Parts: sequence; C-alpha cells; structure tokens
Amino acid sequence: MRRPIIAGNHKMNLLPSESIEFINSLLNSIDMDEKPEIIIFPSYASIAKLLDKTKKTQISIGAQNIYYQEQGAYTGEVSADMVKDLGCEWVLCGHSERRDIFLENDEQVNLKIKAVIKNNLKPMLCIGEKLNHRNNGETEDLLTSQLYCSLKGLSEESLENLVIAYEPVWAIGTGKTATPEDAQNTIKFIRTKLTDIFSDKFSNAIRILYGGSVKPNNVAELMAQKDIDGALIGGASLKADSFAKLVKYNE
Ligand code: PGA
Repeated sequence: MRRPIIAGNHKMNLLPSESIEFINSLLNSIDMDEKPEIIIFPSYASIAKLLDKTKKTQISIGAQNIYYQEQGAYTGEVSADMVKDLGCEWVLCGHSERRDIFLENDEQVNLKIKAVIKNNLKPMLCIGEKLNHRNNGETEDLLTSQLYCSLKGLSEESLENLVIAYEPVWAIGTGKTATPEDAQNTIKFIRTKLTDIFSDKFSNAIRILYGGSVKPNNVAELMAQKDIDGALIGGASLKADSFAKLVKYNE
C-alpha cells in the first residue's frame, strides 16, 4: 500500500514568526494519527524554527532546494549536508519555478537528486509540462525526458525514498486544476514509463503526487484517483486552516 502524502510548499512566503503561528495553529487542528504523511517545505529562514516545533509530531520538514556541490565558494547556496545537519528529511528537486526563474535544467536536477541521496535525505522530484507542450501534444515526450534525465545513473535501491510530484506548469498558482481524470491518466503514464527504467515492483510502490491549484474543495476527487498518491500544494498550504482541511481530505 502506498501511504498518501499531503505536502505544503511555502515558496518565498511567511516570515519565520508567521511560520511559527502557522505550525502552532496546524498542530492544534490535526490529530497525531492522521492518515497521510504530512510534509512542509518552508523557506530556509523558517526551517530551524519549524524543526524545533515539529520534533515529536508526525510532520516532516523539507528544504525547497539545495545546491549539489558539497561545499565551497558558492555564495548564496545551501548544500544537502547542511539541511541534513539541521534535521530536514526531504528536499524538493526541480520545482518548475526553479526551472523557469533560476534556469535549472534536468542535468542539474539529476546532480541535486544524487547529492540528496548521498546525504540520506529523501528527494521529491517535480516534473510537468507547460501549456505549449500540452497544446502541441508533447506532454508525454517531455515527461519521459524529464524522468530519464533526472534519474540518470541512479539505481532503484538508491531511489527507495523517491517521490515524484507531477505538476502541470499551467496549473501552478493559476486556479486551473487538471481534471481528476487528466491527472490520473498522466500519473498512470508516469508510473508505466518508470517500468522502462526500473522493476514493476518499484514502479508500483513509488508514490506519485499531483500538484497545481489543489484546494480543499478539489483535493478529495483528485485523491480518489487510483494512481494519485497525494498532493503538493502551494497557495492553499499557507494558511493552517486550509492546510488542515487538505490533510483531512477524506473526512
Ligand atoms: P499551487 O502551487 O498549489 O499554488 O498551484 C503548487 C506548487 O507550486 O507546488
């Protein structure tokens, strides 16, 4: 059985003091035995404070990015072992905003995943097509190439903790969600494609999330799809009451 994941990506939002308010209020509104695994990706500035607050809870904390080099003269960058040493469990790799605004490519995403694994962190790989790919019928080719390049040279043993987030770029922050059927079909395609590289066992066990304008009012029908194992949520994860509703999607 694949345990569902509800993950919040706070992007460059919430001051550390606001993140503390968020987590206090979230902890008051959820139970210890919630069904999904809960992950929050706060800004670097809030990570230490949130780790402190979530120590004996079911919430895991992740970094939104790392740089793949181990150390050195890389002003402004943060390494995988730095976030590991802080106590992070997860790292988001290849989010579309990193790709679009900071010009990250699949080769760099591949190096980041390798650094994440080397440091015993868990990678959450984001892939997804833009509107022009979709309109030109190129979605499947693009997703295939993102998968192949990002996971190049990695064994299935080393990827046991990998989670993939399928996020159509046209749906991120736009209020336009993929229909549950569309999201299901594409995620099923990704799962099937993984069998070209890895075993059937691996492809069946890997958790694949949907992301892109997930809200409390559409999460349940997305989560009801056979191959959708969770959601990566931006905007609707910023308020504790809204995120708590997402965590409780099946109530
Ligand atoms: P959104 O963001 O939920 O605001 O669309 C999703 C994401 O970027 O991961």
